[in-house]
Amino acid sequence: MPVARRRFRAPRLLSLAALIAPLAMAQTAIKIDLAKPGIPLSPTLYGLMTEEINYSYDGGLYAELVRNRVFKDDDKAPVHWSVVQDAGGSAAIALDQRFPVADTALTTSLRLDAMHAAQGHRVGIANAGYWGIPVKPNTRYRASFYARTTNAGGVPLTVSIEGADGKTVYAQAEGGRINSEWKRYSVNLNTGAKVKPTTNARLVIATESPGTVWFNQVSLFPPTYRDRPNGNRVDLMQKLVDMKPAFLRFPGGNFLEGETVATRFKWKETLGPIEQRPGHRGTWGYRSSDGMGLLEFLEWCEDMGAEPVLAVFAGYALHGETIPGGPDLQPFVQEALDEIEYVTGDLSTKWGAQRARDGHPAPFKLRYVEIGNEDGFDKQKTYDGRYTQFHDAIRAKYPQLKLISTVNGKDWLSQQQKLTSRVPDLVDEHYYYSPMEMMNDAARYDSYERKGPKVFIGEWAAREGEPTTNLHSALADAAFMAGMERNADVVEMSCYAPLLVNANPGGMQWTSNLIGYDVQSSYGSPSYHMQKMFSNYLGNVSLPLHAEKVSTQSWQRPPNKETPLELPPVMQVPTMFFSATKSDQRREIYLKVVNAIGSAQTVQVDLTGAGKVAAQGKAIVLASAKKEDTNTIAEPTKVVPVTSEVKGLGKQFSYNFAPYSVTVLVLSTN
Ligand code: AHR
Repeated sequence: MPVARRRFRAPRLLSLAALIAPLAMAQTAIKIDLAKPGIPLSPTLYGLMTEEINYSYDGGLYAELVRNRVFKDDDKAPVHWSVVQDAGGSAAIALDQRFPVADTALTTSLRLDAMHAAQGHRVGIANAGYWGIPVKPNTRYRASFYARTTNAGGVPLTVSIEGADGKTVYAQAEGGRINSEWKRYSVNLNTGAKVKPTTNARLVIATESPGTVWFNQVSLFPPTYRDRPNGNRVDLMQKLVDMKPAFLRFPGGNFLEGETVATRFKWKETLGPIEQRPGHRGTWGYRSSDGMGLLEFLEWCEDMGAEPVLAVFAGYALHGETIPGGPDLQPFVQEALDEIEYVTGDLSTKWGAQRARDGHPAPFKLRYVEIGNEDGFDKQKTYDGRYTQFHDAIRAKYPQLKLISTVNGKDWLSQQQKLTSRVPDLVDEHYYYSPMEMMNDAARYDSYERKGPKVFIGEWAAREGEPTTNLHSALADAAFMAGMERNADVVEMSCYAPLLVNANPGGMQWTSNLIGYDVQSSYGSPSYHMQKMFSNYLGNVSLPLHAEKVSTQSWQRPPNKETPLELPPVMQVPTMFFSATKSDQRREIYLKVVNAIGSAQTVQVDLTGAGKVAAQGKAIVLASAKKEDTNTIAEPTKVVPVTSEVKGLGKQFSYNFAPYSVTVLVLSTN
């Protein structure tokens, strides 16, 4: 399992001297210098990273409710489907590959042999969805399916959403009379006002007539975000939109690469009507329907007001297969050029015209292309040659694009091989840490080399708590983000990973994630709420900040195979972390403070060189009694930010920061 693909990362000896003081020193103080110009913050500092992992799309954001809708999840059995046999009705179901739906990718169908069916003796097929079908009152669901029969007189079908035991019918409609030709049928299923929400439901297509019926691509969609056909779940989209992401990095991650070259993300096979998409085996142990295809990724960006960061397959697959630079790589380079043309080309181009035929005539804005993913893992060390070939071809055709390399960063993985022949615009660094490791490394960009390419922190997270992380992780994440803001001249972009997890048993492959859900509801982890606080109060300038007398906590660093001798066994890790930014437009200063320990800490704040600072401001505080506290489906809002008015602010003030807290103080300079 690719889950095993974990290592990371060598925290380096850092020049934290300015921030570290022995425990129990005098009061902590920070000076923010408003007389200096500060560093412009990159508008793309905070984005999102996504791939098909943890049932992120199928069983997640992509709103399809039917699991295994084209019967290819398993070669031998119609998994996630069951036969309905009411009151002595008798029937059987089986996979059948003899009758593909012509001119489509629908090659395996589900055969229902209704041996005994009569009025009151219903038989049919049932799908239990991704850990249930969600039922809500006053909701319209759109069901559709392909069907055919060999019965001379045809077969009438009914479609219903009903309780898992078949006793309660939540919505029902006539599905039509099926005849001998494959045909697509669709019906609306409307639930009433009095329906009690549940996930314990199933979709049933049934008949009271004997005979044999074949089904294919059985689909059920609830209302989608912005009502897009083949669209996304409303609650999850809203959570993402609320993060105000500047960009979306897709389609991976490992999912881009594939376990083998043959199972990479073949974007051309994800276009057009869903019946034309064959789907493929993903890298996280389950099949991807590819209902979330290239155009859907782009429309998802559009719906969030975010720009795409397009990762192109670069000739290296997870299980080690590589296509070294040279003629054999050229088709893959062309595939990437075509993909960029699909995203950006006008209607005179082959792929721009295809995008228009797929329903989106307007080109998308694209500024960033990432070449591969985690190529530091390529044991044959072929990235230099591969990158060069992609870089030169993309540069020649699209000189305006910024190109991102997956090696040459300063994280452990990027250091595993060197890119020597070309200089990328950005390097992608990945950091997966324990919370204490992350806090220990939170100042890494304070002393970072300023001469090289800009940094894209393309994957990062403190990893404590599953399936979504706890407050301790959020504190560490906030410490790391404060470091990004202080060093906005180096860090141009960042995105946490993974973003989404289906919280049902079996839904998770990666243990630390940002947003959890079942089929009915969703919640943000403490880190989700913290990240929203950071992005909603980003501002446009990072202000120079000097911290003194910050207490530390001792941390016994666990042994690390990669760098056993690099660090002393016990570290002194700061307990507070800071960033100050300002918004010229809103005339506000945002002071972000992390208090990582279980007792309150007072900080003396000095805004040197400030004009007016209003006495009244606002505090947004994310805190909880225990650092292990977290949010879950059952308790979705246990750890959420609270906003309150604050008085007594000014050019100098002191503030008591709550135990285990992340605070954004909003100071008005009006
Ligand atoms: O985020 C989970 C995985 O971590 C990504 O797929 C991969 O790029 C990294 O190893």
